[in-house]
Amino acid sequence: METVDWSKLSFTYMKTDYNVRCYWRNGQWGELEVSSSEYIPIHMAATCLHYGQDAFEGLKAFRGKDGRIRIFRLDENAKRMQSSADCILMQRVPEELFKAAVLKAVKMNERFVPPYESGASLYIRPLLIGTGARIGVNPADEYLFVVFVMPVGPYFKNGFKPSNVVIMRQFDRAAPLGTGHVKVGGNYAASLRSGQLAHDQGYAAVLYLDAKEKKYLDECGPANFFLIKGNKYVTPASGSILPSITNKSIQQIAADLGLEVDRRRITVEEMAGFDEAGECGTAAVISPVGRIDDPETGKQYVFSKDGEAGPVCRKLYDTLRGIQYGDLPDKFGWITYLDEAE
Ligand SMILES: Cc1ncc(COP(=O)(O)O)c(C=O)c1O
Repeated sequence: METVDWSKLSFTYMKTDYNVRCYWRNGQWGELEVSSSEYIPIHMAATCLHYGQDAFEGLKAFRGKDGRIRIFRLDENAKRMQSSADCILMQRVPEELFKAAVLKAVKMNERFVPPYESGASLYIRPLLIGTGARIGVNPADEYLFVVFVMPVGPYFKNGFKPSNVVIMRQFDRAAPLGTGHVKVGGNYAASLRSGQLAHDQGYAAVLYLDAKEKKYLDECGPANFFLIKGNKYVTPASGSILPSITNKSIQQIAADLGLEVDRRRITVEEMAGFDEAGECGTAAVISPVGRIDDPETGKQYVFSKDGEAGPVCRKLYDTLRGIQYGDLPDKFGWITYLDEAE
């Protein structure tokens, strides 16, 4: 059995021992199955291949100093996958089935949950796809739900440092009445080209604007966006951004720390008046933003002059990570302990 070099992990695919699968056929979900194959045999006319019937989730398991494995906000991911399924007419995965599959996948791959000291974690990827054959544009009559996992490295290999982000008005990620608010594959296809261009130009991500007026802030690639001014945490309200579970958690932490939390429409120009900015998501945790460039207007919004993260970003990051790894008490009830769930 090969061993993992925990210090060399990044956010890349890695084969682990097992994945867990469940099929919707003949109007019902079957039993959970365990597989050691990385492949899924699929009909060439499956709706996921042609018509984008594809939704996924992303969550993490963390090993604490005490050795216990903690899964962060499992129920929230289960619910979000249901709203994604509803939006593109796929069969919903019942919450209990979702949880059982995730727990089984983590348990069966327990040896891949990185040690506490590594700062790494186990990334969990639930996937729901239409597998029934269709040639007309219709929802499938068969679905496959899969959960696979892999260890991923800490997002900040060189410490908690700000990165730069760019506004690209020539691209939209999601339409105002489209599917931006759910986690379906098509949204990510729509963001690949702009994301690549931003990376080629040295930016960490694209900050998307609302597609209708190009006036308000939406979100940042595969992460939500927030701004800090004094004692205030402000994050965009928009019907076309993914409701980030990390953002929701940070808002609760911020309020608990005594910050004022405001979710509202934010114009691009308003950013000039803020002290700090950040991206947040399961992969990014909290990623401070140093500068945002708006090449079309020539404006730059600077949040870090010295290459360091601001104090509020850091406090939020430390608190969130503290809860995830068990260094701080789970005062909001966000953790599912693997050993208690068996
Ligand atoms: C488009 C998009 N926005 C935001 C997020 C952050 O969401 P979460 O905090 O639930 O991971 C993600 C990642 O899942 C994403 O893909």
